[in-house]
Amino acid sequence: MFILPNNVTIIEVGPRDGLQNEKKHVEESDKLAFIDALQGAGIQEMELTSFVSPKWVPQMADAKMIVEKSKKVGRQFVLAPNEKGAQLAIEAGAHSIAVFVGVSNTFNMKNINRSTDESIDALEPVFAKLKMDGIFIRACISTAFYCPYEGKIEIQNVVALCKRFVAMGADELSVADTIGMANPRESYELFKTLKEELPDVLLTAHFHDTRKMAMANIFASLQAGIDRFDTSAGGLGGCPFAPGATGNVATEDVVNMLDSLGIKTGVDVKKVCEAVQVIAPHVSRPIDTAMYSLFENSQL
Ligand code: HMG
Ligand code: MG
Repeated sequence: MFILPNNVTIIEVGPRDGLQNEKKHVEESDKLAFIDALQGAGIQEMELTSFVSPKWVPQMADAKMIVEKSKKVGRQFVLAPNEKGAQLAIEAGAHSIAVFVGVSNTFNMKNINRSTDESIDALEPVFAKLKMDGIFIRACISTAFYCPYEGKIEIQNVVALCKRFVAMGADELSVADTIGMANPRESYELFKTLKEELPDVLLTAHFHDTRKMAMANIFASLQAGIDRFDTSAGGLGGCPFAPGATGNVATEDVVNMLDSLGIKTGVDVKKVCEAVQVIAPHVSRPIDTAMYSLFENSQL
């Protein structure tokens, strides 16, 4: 029989991953309304925004305002690729910071203009300072399965990068299928290995849904003992420097599946669907509203 947890934590990444690659400018007030609606749905952990170069990712240029003006609910992450980003995040009042590095060197160069080793080396003193300040650190591990430039990634390279981050003091690892290429067997194998090799760190799975295997990958990861998932309301998302990748797995789909399995998330799927309606008019990407229609005018 399946091994399933009683509870799963959903980390909503819609306001960050969901909007960073959006072609249309999204107003700060619309982002705040989206964040507010997601908080109203019971989301307790969320990636709000990124402190990155506005020249590289214009959509995140309002990061300071988003942190300052959003309601403080649960754990709120902001992304920072380097010392400058971390410093700006702290100045804006962030208590939890997510750094991001790719296992694949080529992807990392395209994403943050440094090799993987250079990025980690530069982050080491930043981690030391953040730890002294009591900041919770999430390390996002990109291209943990496949890279759009280098192809298949070896498990031992993912494990090595994760171990380095844990040794530096990461509180959480969010391990990502950046371009949505993983299959359930690969997901199970990687997360089972990471659980065995790093039993004392919070482990989260982050699946993009390019090939529509993200739900299957989540089910496989549950079998490997994972009980934390990054998801994005409306299935929005994608990294501007990972060509071909589509959105993240949709929060409403994941919560609905977990609900139906009797796994508690504390998230109200109907209200997530309402949050999707809040952001839908402001993004150019079509959103699959099948789940919304299911709950609209229904007692389900
Ligand atoms: P660079 O050009 O090498 O930066 O870019 P630099 O250090 O040479 O500095 C150049 C200028 O940028 C300077 O300003 C710096 O002050 C400024 P100037 O003197 O020219 O006026 N700068 C910054 N400004 C604001 N915030 C900062 C910052 N750092 C330097 N933090 C850099 C390097 C990292 C800045 C750039 O490559 C960048 O911003 N990249 C961000 C890429 C990104 O956001 N990608 C998406 C997020 S990751 C993701 O989506 C994957 C994930 O979802 C997991 C998965 O699915 O895989 C997490
Ligand atoms: Mg992502």
